Amino acid sequence: MPATIQTAVVGATGYAGFELARLLARHPRAKKAVLFTRTGEASATAQLDELYPHVSGNGGYPLEPFRWETLRAKGVDVLFLATPHEVSREWAPEALAHGVHVIDLSGAWRLENPEYRAIYKFHDKEPALAEKTAAQAVYGIPELHRDELTNAALVANAGCYATSIILALAPLVRAKLVDLDHGIVCDSKSGVSGAGKQPTQKTHFVEVAENLSAYSVFNHRHTGEILEQLGLQPEQLTFTPHLLPIPRGILSTIYVRLASAMQPAAVEECMREFYAGSPCVRLFSAGKLPQIQYSLHTNYCDIGFTLAPDGRRLVIVSCLDNLVKGAAGQAVQNMNVMFGWDEEEGLR
Ligand SMILES: NC(=O)c1ccc[n+]([C@@H]2O[C@H](COP(=O)([O-])OP(=O)(O)OC[C@H]3O[C@@H](n4cnc5c(N)ncnc54)[C@H](OP(=O)(O)O)[C@@H]3O)[C@@H](O)[C@H]2O)c1
Repeated sequence: MPATIQTAVVGATGYAGFELARLLARHPRAKKAVLFTRTGEASATAQLDELYPHVSGNGGYPLEPFRWETLRAKGVDVLFLATPHEVSREWAPEALAHGVHVIDLSGAWRLENPEYRAIYKFHDKEPALAEKTAAQAVYGIPELHRDELTNAALVANAGCYATSIILALAPLVRAKLVDLDHGIVCDSKSGVSGAGKQPTQKTHFVEVAENLSAYSVFNHRHTGEILEQLGLQPEQLTFTPHLLPIPRGILSTIYVRLASAMQPAAVEECMREFYAGSPCVRLFSAGKLPQIQYSLHTNYCDIGFTLAPDGRRLVIVSCLDNLVKGAAGQAVQNMNVMFGWDEEEGLR
């Protein structure tokens, strides 16, 4: 199959960007990706494998400093931004103006509600342009937005925690089978790579190893995405993330009360119907639960559940790799949908 499009990655030296570089290198439809470092900086590192020896030995992954002229000269069709939110907020409009499709892995363009967006504290230099750009963004979970993603100019790749929770809840919430007045509790745990490669005191080995801690209770940035995508009100959701002493992977345990008593088979059928034709969601049969280790290094979101004998108390468990289905893999999946290719192209 001849390669058809030219991709580029900004932020390839970061965790999500590196994963993208690795996935794009084996994508049959993508030419070798252009891997950018920061604007105009003469990079101290010329090759990605100097930072990540995992990718040495296959002809190399040269890095080059980001310049719009280089982007044009290389004929880039799709630009992946694996950059901090503020950087994506500034660069996406300019990339769109250059006629390039953008798939942004940050939270810059995911939210519609300005109240939810306020948590990012964006200071847009050109607010009107930012609003115009936001209006073009399609939320990047293919399982929910397949049609809008086709031919999208800007994809706001979904957050990692948000993906694990939204995919677990969407079938039942959309079918109105959940007692929302009772509230939904999402207890999520993530490996440390979710915080990016720059260690802080909170993510330092000494703080994380042999430990488990909760953080950002009632004010995690992904809360707004979950509310918007599921059509929930803030008081209907309690989401608490935790830091796990492992490098990667997310497990979300989600506590739900069903609107009326159901049989496990009916819950399973609702989920199977919803995800028919969605190859990147793996549903476990009733009573079987996924674990983080099953989905590591894959683009699967694994979902399982157990229903209490009363038929109303439901626990859903959802697992994914935060750097793959939670970031780079989902970005590639979004690109596949955007261009009308097999959704799993380059991801199997
Ligand atoms: N980690 C995850 O699990 C995950 C999941 C979903 C989404 N995301 C999102 O993906 C994005 C990248 O996350 P990450 O975890 O890969 O972060 P990271 O490991 O900290 O990497 C950040 C990347 O951005 C580059 N960068 C930083 N400031 C820049 C600037 N001013 N101009 C251009 N490039 C700049 C860094 O370059 P240097 O190497 O030169 O510093 C690095 O390549 C973030 O928006 C994050 O929220 C991450």
